[in-house]
Amino acid sequence: MAEQRGRVFVSWRFPDPALPLLEAALDVRLWRGDTPIPRDEFLREIADVSGVMVSNATETLDREAMDAALNLRVISNFGVGVDNVDLPLATARGILVCNTPGVLVETTADHAFALLLAVARRLTEAERYVREDRWRGWHPHLLVGQEVYGATLGIVGLGAIGTAVARRAAGFNMRIIYASRTRKPDLEQTLGLEWSSLDDLLRQADFVCLTTALTAETRGLIGRRELDLMQPTAVLVNIARGPIVDPQALYDALKAQRIFGAGLDVTDPEPMRASDPLLTLDNCLIVPHIGSAGGGARARMAELAATNLINGLAGRRPPHLVNPEAWDREPGRR
Ligand code: DGY
Repeated sequence: MAEQRGRVFVSWRFPDPALPLLEAALDVRLWRGDTPIPRDEFLREIADVSGVMVSNATETLDREAMDAALNLRVISNFGVGVDNVDLPLATARGILVCNTPGVLVETTADHAFALLLAVARRLTEAERYVREDRWRGWHPHLLVGQEVYGATLGIVGLGAIGTAVARRAAGFNMRIIYASRTRKPDLEQTLGLEWSSLDDLLRQADFVCLTTALTAETRGLIGRRELDLMQPTAVLVNIARGPIVDPQALYDALKAQRIFGAGLDVTDPEPMRASDPLLTLDNCLIVPHIGSAGGGARARMAELAATNLINGLAGRRPPHLVNPEAWDREPGRR
């Protein structure tokens, strides 16, 4: 008798080689839309599947979704963050949750630096100035920004991406301080990093780069009090998750020029509408969650997410399992 192939739902036409890999191993049902699948359709689509490959930016796997998908055994996220998944519930139900770390680290760190430099040197404002035909000649006070070389960078959350940002900063001869739950003495040594409390980091840094995961502890981490601690010349860069920063407090700080500027890859809410007050500010650069959007990174993420799903459903431990407890829970099932 032919072995039954697992049935999976895939929420986007993810880049190659995701679909060829998945289709060779599994029965794939695919959302072909150019906008995210509507929630009610998603809940219907996952009702009879044993695995899903989804974007952590568009599909939420909460209790409602897991109750709708009672056969679910593997959730494979295209992306590193797992804040779209109710992890304790998935673990309690023995559902494997997988992600794609490593392969997007350098690409995302490049992007952090792109935002940092662009805000420091007011590049979007400057480009608009030329496009709007306002350029009449050189002027000594035209679009003067902040200097990056030799400045102090504060990194909040020193995981793989934070570390990759620090390596870039070393090339700019920056003093690098970091605030993180766990101290990393080896990186302090090799990259010359200084550990700090969050408050001291905010007081001292010329550039504050958020790279921490969104958790109950980091939600709203940067609010009015924290922004007030920053220097008036400081720049905030968020490549982590929008809800880590209080958007109203950020708007007020930028509007009153209590900080110099902000570069946001992620926002709260996402997607952000064009009517959002933050978009009225020249000192706020906002791009639509494209930190990992390098062609190579996206292909590597696609391959890894597909491999995670295929392995998990075949009873092999996926290369990137976020909740190993779920694997240990039900050895008999594999
Ligand atoms: C990630 O990998 O978590 C990125 O933010 C893309 O969603």
